[in-house]
Amino acid sequence: MKAEKIRKGNNILPAKGRLGVLLPGLAGAVSSTFIAGVEAVRRGMALPIGSLTQMGTIRLGKRTEKRIPKIKEFINLANLEDLVFGGWDIYEDNLYEACLKAKVLEKNLVEDLKDFLSSIKPYPAVFKQEFVHNLQAKYFKKETNYLDLIAALKADIEDFKRKNKLERCVMVWCGSTEAYITPQEVHQSLEKFEEALRKNDPNISPSMLYAYAAIDSGISFVNGAPNLTVDIPALVEMAENREVPIAGKDFKTGQTLLKTIIAPGIKARLLGLKGWFSTNILGNRDGLVLDDEASYKTKRVSKLSVLEYILQPHVYPELYKDVYHKVRINYYPPRGDNKEAWDCIDIFGWLGYEMQIKVNFLCRDSILAAPVVLDLALFSDFAQRAGLYGVQEWLSFYFKSPMCKEELYPEHDLFIQLMKLKNTLRFLMEEEQITHWGLDYYME
Ligand SMILES: NC(=O)c1ccc[n+]([C@@H]2O[C@H](COP(=O)([O-])OP(=O)(O)OC[C@H]3O[C@@H](n4cnc5c(N)ncnc54)[C@H](O)[C@@H]3O)[C@@H](O)[C@H]2O)c1
Repeated sequence: MKAEKIRKGNNILPAKGRLGVLLPGLAGAVSSTFIAGVEAVRRGMALPIGSLTQMGTIRLGKRTEKRIPKIKEFINLANLEDLVFGGWDIYEDNLYEACLKAKVLEKNLVEDLKDFLSSIKPYPAVFKQEFVHNLQAKYFKKETNYLDLIAALKADIEDFKRKNKLERCVMVWCGSTEAYITPQEVHQSLEKFEEALRKNDPNISPSMLYAYAAIDSGISFVNGAPNLTVDIPALVEMAENREVPIAGKDFKTGQTLLKTIIAPGIKARLLGLKGWFSTNILGNRDGLVLDDEASYKTKRVSKLSVLEYILQPHVYPELYKDVYHKVRINYYPPRGDNKEAWDCIDIFGWLGYEMQIKVNFLCRDSILAAPVVLDLALFSDFAQRAGLYGVQEWLSFYFKSPMCKEELYPEHDLFIQLMKLKNTLRFLMEEEQITHWGLDYYME
């Protein structure tokens, strides 16, 4: 990204007109909970709890200045009233039907929003069974060759923009987790990727086709699932060439969110760690998809990377060299979207004496994910108007496996991630960076 391309302060383009939020996986639990939730907030029926863009504040200048505006007052974000929702799914359900099937929100709320929700219907998906084994697609594009599928996706985007009179769009992948693949030769450069597109190469997944269509349409792309998708040199190169922001991957919501809250604390006080066993039960459609080994592996790899980076065993071998980290996800239909997670954390302290921490998190997966989708949609639109493009590392706060430049390592500590995000906003608004140094208050 070229520094001179960045627009700061008053030069950031205004959030004028309506913003389209395109979601592959539109009829899923996360998308439907997000969209119904935004509408409930717009109607004054509920609060956008968990959303930094809606409820968060940012300190500016010295503590003595007492300048702590809300983030949405500090930067020029799209208003909730200006958001319009669309996307794709392999099921034809409108959003009212999708909310009822997902069973995340109370029926009364869904009924109150019925008119609005029924009016939102997906476009037919781009789907390949090899990438999601446990779902049977009912509603998908009949084209078989990749270039035709990309053209069809771009036509949907144009149709959506025209019908809704949109100024701008963002795309957030809320589709199912795809089968595990590792980066191949065809992913290494845009030239090779485009060559592979022409040959319908099996290493290109549907999420990559959506991402390609988005970037080619000048639309930022955020990946909420652990699939590779834009986390390959070819699509990073394309995003840079086209000056489009990209971010990912895998929303950080339940167990991993807590892990990246607890682990930095253990490390900060130099307590040792012997092992961390994490297990989950969940019974939603996401759980069904993850019940297949290929998709499960994609998720497990994403969840496992967190501790290694936070604890830095190469820097603290006495404390973290042999950590036994195990993650399990079990599909258990009776729980639906209400996931239950258990963590058994074996730590040791002074002179090596052992202790244990047990965490039992009874969470609601989509309730935790919805504000993350909202923030990512608004921040990625803001990034584009500020002239940022390529990988948006400052949005790491929202991801289990944050994307970053190749020669860097990802930052997983939630508190460092938040500081990174807020300092990026301060930088763009030409405010001083805050280091929390503090001695300056005491020096004469
Ligand atoms: N809920 C969370 O806390 C959370 C956290 C991290 C990541 N995620 C990820 O977010 C994604 C969505 O989660 P969810 O709980 O809503 O799952 P879900 O199964 O309810 O929704 C996914 C939707 O994607 C659709 N889909 C599958 N393949 C598609 C394709 N090729 N094109 C368009 N649509 C397609 C499915 O039909 C389904 O409606 C999953 O990948 C999940 O792993 C969720």
